[in-house]
Amino acid sequence: MSKRHLHLGQTLTFTADPLVEGPGAARHDRHGALVIEDGVITEVGDAEALRRGDFSSTTDHGQALLLPGFIDAHAHYPQTAMIASWGKRLIDWLNTYTFPEEMRFGDPGYAAEIAGRYLGLLLAQGTTTVCSYCTIHPASVDAFFEAAAARGMRVLAGKTCMDRNAPEGLRDTAQSAYDDSKALLTRWHGKGRASYVITPRFSPTSTPEQLSALGSLWAEHPDCLMQTHLSEQTDEIAWVKSLFPQARDYLDTYEAHGLLGANGLYGHAIHLEPREKDRLRETGAALVHCPTSNTFIGSGLFDMDGLTRAGHRVGLATDTGGGSSFSMLRSMAAAYEVAQLRGRALHPAALIWLATTGSARALRLDNRIGSLAPGMEADFIALDLASTPAIAQRSARAKDLWEALFPTIMMGDDRAIAATYVAGRRVV
Ligand code: GUN
Ligand code: ZN
Repeated sequence: MSKRHLHLGQTLTFTADPLVEGPGAARHDRHGALVIEDGVITEVGDAEALRRGDFSSTTDHGQALLLPGFIDAHAHYPQTAMIASWGKRLIDWLNTYTFPEEMRFGDPGYAAEIAGRYLGLLLAQGTTTVCSYCTIHPASVDAFFEAAAARGMRVLAGKTCMDRNAPEGLRDTAQSAYDDSKALLTRWHGKGRASYVITPRFSPTSTPEQLSALGSLWAEHPDCLMQTHLSEQTDEIAWVKSLFPQARDYLDTYEAHGLLGANGLYGHAIHLEPREKDRLRETGAALVHCPTSNTFIGSGLFDMDGLTRAGHRVGLATDTGGGSSFSMLRSMAAAYEVAQLRGRALHPAALIWLATTGSARALRLDNRIGSLAPGMEADFIALDLASTPAIAQRSARAKDLWEALFPTIMMGDDRAIAATYVAGRRVV
């Protein structure tokens, strides 16, 4: 018989989407428990009831809140070492800081060093799954998936494709983007916990020929996700219009080349036209909100309220290193602040849900990760709700879980992550 491990702590689970149903969709157990067997959650329940069983180990997390590991639905691991670069908006920021750094990933040794550093930082922040862009270099994809496999992490990633408006040394072609992406997809998709994601960076850095080639690849592998950027900044949108004069709008540059679909992930999606919103909803595509990036680069305010009410699937992400943090707690805080500026206070239940189940749903992985439920992979964290004196003095006054949790969402950092488990194994 396989070994059964018991974890005791407060637990939080959801019966529905709290963005739609409100906080009543959440279930909090002050004395909860998880049973883990072979890297999978087999039981979730009350500590008193579950602890009567036979276990090869029991871990008491005390007052900590057990949650699914955080899921970062959009990031650029190659931007780890240039995060928090000062003073530019999107296009200047890409040219000044991002492209020179991504150029360095032509060296597989450097790619391996940054991939390992990045995943270590994520686990310390309680993030157990990320969907990342790599660089145009196939070796940057191998480095990332190898580093994730060494840590047992479920990750998604793809080779970034660009064949124009990028510097010499950081451009592929329509054909090589297709060939290299296909070879990487064949090598990595479904291998262990890896998923390959077809990754045109965004319309300005791809010719129509490259977009079409990647659209064909996606049609051959419709079970793969496809990720890109959409309507992040107004000057970017004006540039897209000048590059694609025939297109009805930004989304149409993807749609016309086979790059709009139910397994599509569209990062940012801030300045959307009514037609774009309609098409995204009709096709069942997912939007990814990157709030620390949107404020840091000065992009705008994502319409969480309007888009979720209209039925869009939305995930939450850091967008490291356009985003100014590796932390999903910080991303939840920024999502709260952005929503406030648009006139809606997001409930703590909705913020936690977005960073776990919501992102898992956006990534089409909610049957495996993103909630504490029997059958789910045992990627989870223990969140300390009193990790600093400032947070502790505030949460000490709390009348319920939400008041106890919200100070950690707004003020917490990696000190709040008391433990991180990947497939049942403690890694932090
Ligand atoms: N649009 C195209 N590439 C990028 C990128 O690397 N970061 C952000 N924030 N937006 C982009
Ligand atoms: Zn991005």
